[in-house]
Amino acid sequence: MGQTLTEKILDDHLVEGELEPGEEIGIEIDQVLTQDTTGTLVWLQFEALGLDEVQTELAAQYCDHQTYQFDFKNTDDHRFLRSAAGTFGAYFSRPGNGICHNVHKENFAAPGKTLLGSDSHTPTPGGMGQLAIGSGGLDVAVAMGGGAYYVDMPEVVNVRLEGELPEWATAKDVILEMLRRLSVKGGVGKIFEYTGPGVETLSVPERTTITNMGTELGATSSIFPTDENTQDYLERLGRAEEYVELQPDDDAEYADELTIDLSDLEPLIACPSMPDKVVPVREVAGEDVEQVIIGSCTNGGYPDILPSAKMLEGREVDLKTEMIVAPGSKQASEILARQGWTAEMMAAGVNFSEATCGACIGIGHVPGSDSVSLRTFNRNFEGRSGIEDDNVYLCSPEVATAAAIAGEIVDPRDLAEELGDLEDPGFELPDQFDGSKTDIIEPEEAVDDDLVKGPNIGDVPLKDPLDAHLEGSALLKMEDNITTDHIIPATQDILMYRSNIPKLSEFTLSRVDDTFAQRALDADGGFLVAGENYGQGSSREHAALCPMYLGIEGVLAQSFARIHKANLFNFGLLPLEIDEETYEKIDQGDDIEIVDDVAEAVRSGQEEFTIRVNDDWEATGTLDASEREREILADGGKLTHVKQQHDEG
Ligand code: F3S
Repeated sequence: MGQTLTEKILDDHLVEGELEPGEEIGIEIDQVLTQDTTGTLVWLQFEALGLDEVQTELAAQYCDHQTYQFDFKNTDDHRFLRSAAGTFGAYFSRPGNGICHNVHKENFAAPGKTLLGSDSHTPTPGGMGQLAIGSGGLDVAVAMGGGAYYVDMPEVVNVRLEGELPEWATAKDVILEMLRRLSVKGGVGKIFEYTGPGVETLSVPERTTITNMGTELGATSSIFPTDENTQDYLERLGRAEEYVELQPDDDAEYADELTIDLSDLEPLIACPSMPDKVVPVREVAGEDVEQVIIGSCTNGGYPDILPSAKMLEGREVDLKTEMIVAPGSKQASEILARQGWTAEMMAAGVNFSEATCGACIGIGHVPGSDSVSLRTFNRNFEGRSGIEDDNVYLCSPEVATAAAIAGEIVDPRDLAEELGDLEDPGFELPDQFDGSKTDIIEPEEAVDDDLVKGPNIGDVPLKDPLDAHLEGSALLKMEDNITTDHIIPATQDILMYRSNIPKLSEFTLSRVDDTFAQRALDADGGFLVAGENYGQGSSREHAALCPMYLGIEGVLAQSFARIHKANLFNFGLLPLEIDEETYEKIDQGDDIEIVDDVAEAVRSGQEEFTIRVNDDWEATGTLDASEREREILADGGKLTHVKQQHDEG
């Protein structure tokens, strides 16, 4: 039987397991990337593992999320990241050089290679045939030390593209159409592999807009085959020699298949406040628009901004609308500036930002209360823009620019008809991506030869191996659907303590009970009790690390969110599933004792554990874990586990 492209790349990198959907597989990682809000912990963990040199073919550290350095702690983080990259042998991309996915795509992403990144949009270079996956930071640190990355083998779904995009429809509309059809949960446990005759009609940057937003479908990754367009893109980047032809076998079998006829697409828009609330632009036309932003890792490249510049040539941004361009990379800014487009756009009323995530995570350009903002980004969750009552729409640069010209949401086809002289600007690549490389420091050029830690950068706490006897009180009883945001909020004032675990831990579960952190420290151990779906939301590993730092030994919940449960294993916390009756019966403050020899039971594969409550009644807790997860848990978490393996090996 033939193989899909995904299977071919995984097969080349497989170190453990079989390529059966749902089975845990271990794969070798060729490249890793981290960014500034996750990278500090990655390097502190790398250091804690006792590793001294990056083992992957390539590692790159970007500074893109908090580049405005509004507090010395951000600047210290950047300095630490530069010193860590230099000390351990990674590339360092300086603050303002651009968003990790854009800069990685332009400089390092390569067909056929595996990439692991501590950012959820890591799958972006799937558009150039790279198999790229986002994960928690500890997995990145381990991979960077030469360890395998473990993931449940996803189902591979064939997305067959036919036809060709009509005027004013773009790659953004392809992925918005996917979201309209499949919803934000439609890709969970899946990799989307794009095939069919429509593929060759899309350039690589258009493909990466699609693979970038595969994350919004919940997909593990998305990937395109490589072809002349990939070769052409690499040539324009000055990296022609990295081209490899990659195609699925003709008789490859997919778990599922869907078809999108590109010719049927029209300008689409995702309405507030979910990326899958997609409708044709015409359905929401006429809504006043106060802000338009072109940028982000989805649509922040030179070929994304150029259409906007062409549309604005000789025109002006409407007086009631603010238009901001935040290029995805400094290279894009530089080429646009050299070609004169920046001046044209400024003359039309556009303000330029440095190359950063910025507004995408609510840092800068926060919209006015209850106003409409059109953005070319990938997410519009309520409050993400920096204000709770936001109305953020997601669309292509063409739709966003049409709104900036008209001052209201308008289908660009209708605006073109009204103005008479507005043409579809099309999609164009520069002859050469010839921006300067001054903002990437190569490992050989490292300016620091030791780690530079400011006062806000602490060590990563390590946990002791699991005790034979676990006992403590039910320190907090919570309801269903507690998110990682509840456990560790991601607001700016708290985010800056990501590399200072003792300080960050003070905020643990403060949105549920602001006395919790102190009570946990005073109790020196104890349990969390929760209802269904505990830990849903992001892959934020601090949501397990901080409770671990406060001495929490385990979580008794009716069910766990998948990634958070993996993080609980990674930080040595026992996740036991309890039934509804047990959940109802346990009260906050009850004494909890796990009766079995816990360490032994975890290692031996025991699934049911006896929970004694108040020395009065007993219930059963279930541990659902793979052999590898049991070893990690018993050793006191992944850091200790891997450290032991290194010491032994
Ligand atoms: Fe994330 Fe930055 Fe993109 S915040 S969504 S990587 S623009």
